[in-house]
Amino acid sequence: MGVSAQAYRAQLLYFVDDPAKVGDAAWQYFEDGVLWIENGCIKAVGSAEQLLHRLPSWVSLHHYSHHLILPGFIDTHVHYPQTEMIGAFGEKLLSWLNNYTFPVEARFSDSRYGRKVAAFFLEELLRNGTTTALVFGTVHPASVDAFFHEAQDRGLRMIAGKVMMDRNAPDELCDSAETGYQESLGLIERWHNVDRLQYAVTPRFAPTSTRHQLEKAGQLLKEYPDLYLHTHLAESEEEVAWVKALFPSSQNYLDVYYREGLVGKRSIFAHGIHLCDEECNKLAQSGAAVAHCPTSNLFLGSGLLNLKRLHEFGVTVSLGTDVGAGTSFSLFRTMDEAYKIQQLQGGTLEPMQALYMATLGGAVALDLADRIGSFRVGNEADFVVLDLEATPLLAFRMQHCRTIQEKVFVLNVLADDRVVEQTFSAGRCVHFRGKVG
Ligand code: GUN
Ligand code: ZN
Repeated sequence: MGVSAQAYRAQLLYFVDDPAKVGDAAWQYFEDGVLWIENGCIKAVGSAEQLLHRLPSWVSLHHYSHHLILPGFIDTHVHYPQTEMIGAFGEKLLSWLNNYTFPVEARFSDSRYGRKVAAFFLEELLRNGTTTALVFGTVHPASVDAFFHEAQDRGLRMIAGKVMMDRNAPDELCDSAETGYQESLGLIERWHNVDRLQYAVTPRFAPTSTRHQLEKAGQLLKEYPDLYLHTHLAESEEEVAWVKALFPSSQNYLDVYYREGLVGKRSIFAHGIHLCDEECNKLAQSGAAVAHCPTSNLFLGSGLLNLKRLHEFGVTVSLGTDVGAGTSFSLFRTMDEAYKIQQLQGGTLEPMQALYMATLGGAVALDLADRIGSFRVGNEADFVVLDLEATPLLAFRMQHCRTIQEKVFVLNVLADDRVVEQTFSAGRCVHFRGKVG
């Protein structure tokens, strides 16, 4: 039995901890580094000086001249069925849902349609260097079967779930508390922990579920404790007011979920912009994460997330693109807008903090740091090779960077899919810009 082994020599950067907690000790950088992959996992990482002489002759060595290798990006909140409606003009959250989102999602009862869109969506993720995502399907179980088939064919680590929604949406997009439970269960049995796939119980958000449906979602989490919970939370002020009217006995928005056992270590809440102190404390205590989706928040005019405040409460915050309300699949575009959102509030977002959130921080939010998000020995080899001279402007600007922090910040401001030369998943090249354009 042959061992498949490759080594990649370039600039290498990855995180071992959160820069918000340990500062510069959070990251490892090798100006001339080697990443050694064996059988789809990280065998070793270090400087070329340390590692090159240890490489057996049968390991093929790939040498890049002006490239930076990072762990693959992790998008902790995105809707694959909304790919075709990215950039739908000019609405606030609730009217945008009714006018654009629901009509598009109704098409996903057809699994062939779902596979076509899922295939396009996954190729787009890979072109942008995203190797893992937490993904919304639609209410149709077929939409999630379609997505998982396409992800499985590509050997990707992906998490997804069927929307649960039993009120305040068009009839053809509603399940019931009982069918939502049964259909989710079927998908869990077919897909959860199969290859690199995992399931997320996915009530859309509190306004589109009855309390009974949320209770059934909680039942699934009790029955399968390693499932994820994926939903939206406190994205717009109008939505928060609606939740208050719909659930008058709940103390606040998060409490609607909390009461049904939906807030835990594997819970990811998209947005979390308009939260009170008590909600922040509860999120922190339970180890749940907020997926910050800056391009979406600006596009829908939902509000400005205060990252410093969430960090002070100890809340885990990762990044999401939230396509189709989000306006880009690129985590670079997402980091750029995240920075500007903090700037507008008199704060800032350090470049290394942003990159942490897009890599290891995403893995921590998904409770997967022992598998992805860094170059820890034994982790799955999901990584990206970035061309630091991909555009004339970038090549010119990079000459004037003195430190790796400066390079990372310039990437956050200027980079997009053009910079992603190759994307690797479990050691296999799944995107090569030179070849596929
Ligand atoms: N809240 C409930 N559903 C959605 C959705 O599809 N997108 C966004 N951005 N927010 C939501
Ligand atoms: Zn969303």
